[in-house]
Amino acid sequence: MIDISISNLFCGDNAEILPLIPDNSVDAVITSPPYFQQREYGDGSGIGNEETLEEYLEHVISVFRQCVRITKDAGSIVFNIGDKYIDGNLLLVPYQFALAVQKEKLVKLINELTWIKVNPVPKQDPRKLICATEPFFIFAKSPHYYFNKEEFLSYRDTLLKKQTAGNDVGKKYYELIGRSDLSNEQKEQARKELSEVISEVKQGKLASFRMKIRGLHALPYGGQAGGRLTQIETKGFTIIKIYGNALRRDVIESTVETIKGNIHPAVYPASIVHELIKLLTKENDIVLDPFLGSGTTAVAAKRLGRRYIGIEIHREYIEYAEQRLTNKQPDMFEILL
Ligand SMILES: C[S@@+](CC[C@H](N)C(=O)[O-])C[C@H]1O[C@@H](n2cnc3c(N)ncnc32)[C@H](O)[C@@H]1O
Repeated sequence: MIDISISNLFCGDNAEILPLIPDNSVDAVITSPPYFQQREYGDGSGIGNEETLEEYLEHVISVFRQCVRITKDAGSIVFNIGDKYIDGNLLLVPYQFALAVQKEKLVKLINELTWIKVNPVPKQDPRKLICATEPFFIFAKSPHYYFNKEEFLSYRDTLLKKQTAGNDVGKKYYELIGRSDLSNEQKEQARKELSEVISEVKQGKLASFRMKIRGLHALPYGGQAGGRLTQIETKGFTIIKIYGNALRRDVIESTVETIKGNIHPAVYPASIVHELIKLLTKENDIVLDPFLGSGTTAVAAKRLGRRYIGIEIHREYIEYAEQRLTNKQPDMFEILL
């Protein structure tokens, strides 16, 4: 058995190294196997260039089974796989993988997170649209999986609050109150409540709000005594407070990474891995990538104070990943975050 309590990278075939990792020992696996017949890495050894799709899927799924075994009960497993055209026919490789895995009933598919590529490779087939998405499948081992939803793309909450808390927030409602047919007393009350709600938004207690004013906005439907309709009838206005954060949707936008000096031909976006690690793990948890490549998963895990284990068959990529991990120069994604 190997000690995974400290962060480490291993050079070798994951079929040989994964069996050395104890059962129920890692908190999350986040990885991207080589895509089917897409390219050759290093000397061409490893998964990816099998003659048939069936053979390829069997190899990837045998790695997946090991990942399930070594993942803790509250842990999760994320696989990102790309698709492939053969003879002009899209094989739906990622979905063939996900369906085959589901049949084994070892895990539950929690989400298919769709990566929207902001700058997809502009392949020149005039009779096909450009493929600009790829799935990240998130599987859980038990119903008690760790899932910190609020952390996923949490910077958007701050953006949302900043957008709504600008100096102009609510200005249009002051103008509308002035133009409305409310009595002077009602206008005074409306301005008072408006200024209170604006200050709640500016303090970050509310994400946003809407105001409905009699005669200017469509009336709300129905409503009980004391409800919105009644407020409009008696006070002349109603204020709807919006407490929510940004919606956590199953899509994520990112550019296709090109890191200056990166010797690896197929790097996945560190920004996506970063969000997945925040969603699925806590500080000091162990994140494993059995197809480490240039080390993106390990770099993101280290940056977020998680431990990491990486396995990669080609020594040059492991060496490059080590450099990234010790680099004094931050990766571009670290500058952007
Ligand atoms: C798609 S790349 C991963 C890239 C990585 N996500 C990154 O951001 O750099 C897949 C990697 O898996 C490696 N690989 C293929 N078969 C392997 C095996 N059996 N064991 C370990 N690594 C393998 C390849 O050499 C390649 O670097």
